[in-house]
Amino acid sequence: MKLGTLLLANNLVLAPMLQVSTSPFRRFCRKFGEIGLVSVPMLYTKRLENSPNTVLMDLHKIEEERPISVQLIGSNVNALKSSIDFLESYKFDVLDINACCPSKRAIKAQEGGYLLKDLDKLKELLDVAVKHSSRPVSLKIRLGFNNSNDIDKLTNFINNSGIEFLTVHGRTVRDRFKDSTFNIDAIKKIKSLVKIPVVGNGNILNPKIAREFLEFTKVDALMIGRGSMGNPEIFNQIHQYLKKGLELIPKNNVKKMKELIKLFEHCVNEYLDGNLEIPCSTEKYKFMELKRNLIWLSKSIQGSTDLRIKISKIKTLKELEQIIDSLN
Ligand SMILES: Cc1cc2nc3c(=O)[nH]c(=O)nc-3n(C[C@H](O)[C@H](O)[C@H](O)COP(=O)(O)O)c2cc1C
Repeated sequence: MKLGTLLLANNLVLAPMLQVSTSPFRRFCRKFGEIGLVSVPMLYTKRLENSPNTVLMDLHKIEEERPISVQLIGSNVNALKSSIDFLESYKFDVLDINACCPSKRAIKAQEGGYLLKDLDKLKELLDVAVKHSSRPVSLKIRLGFNNSNDIDKLTNFINNSGIEFLTVHGRTVRDRFKDSTFNIDAIKKIKSLVKIPVVGNGNILNPKIAREFLEFTKVDALMIGRGSMGNPEIFNQIHQYLKKGLELIPKNNVKKMKELIKLFEHCVNEYLDGNLEIPCSTEKYKFMELKRNLIWLSKSIQGSTDLRIKISKIKTLKELEQIIDSLN
């Protein structure tokens, strides 16, 4: 399928999620089937400008993961320009600008979701991105800052921005992640008003929801975030369902969890292999990645609360590996 000028294997996108959709995690999800596009979570433009060494880890071997998007967050035009210059030597496919992050930190720094309150600033940033980046530029937004009453203004803005495609999460910045606030009607409205392709995002947890989302909103593609945590197969499950109506019922048992975590470990090793300078030891990195993924993977297994409590208390890679080996 085409998303702007990008040619993708399918209409599914793995969401940028800080400390979740890391390179090992993206590789893991792709082991089960194609994913149209994956994303490097937000990189701070100020950090890229002042200490680019701190993001080398996030960009390590991204050329092996194409098609891949790199997301930037910031509010300073010069920092954005320097970040784009820095990124030019890397091989990736889309430059994404974050105008959606609802964290207190982002709002205080007047970046991320805050930019929906300051469209003049967002325009300045997008102009720089479109002018200076040799890659297509995309934008990730929420429905508005305080409410979704300004969709006409927002979509008019987007239609004049020069970006290639838009990703929209169906909540306002103020809503943060409150469940009751998800507004799929607003996504449908945005899709009907913008002239560029739209990726819809929010609460897509299984193939049926994915199909309903697509049919109702008519968006061009779907971005999946939390639904992939502990279920890296979700993309293949959705793809098979959309394409062939096939319902792949996942097996959830301890044996399968062990196989999955071993596969994930292989993905961590694939990523760590080569010349990588990371701020912590590779052992610590591996420990943190394995621990959180084992916790997510265990969530679909009945009666696994005790196991999760045990895992959460573990402090070393060795102990974690002993637990993994003892899983039967
Ligand atoms: C732990 C976590 C980290 C996130 N980090 C980012 C990020 O770096 N950039 C971004 O645009 N959105 C980020 N998001 C938002 C997701 O990309 C996505 O929009 C959100 O999770 C809603 O989609 P979902 O319901 O499929 O999870 C993050 C979400 C979570 C849960």
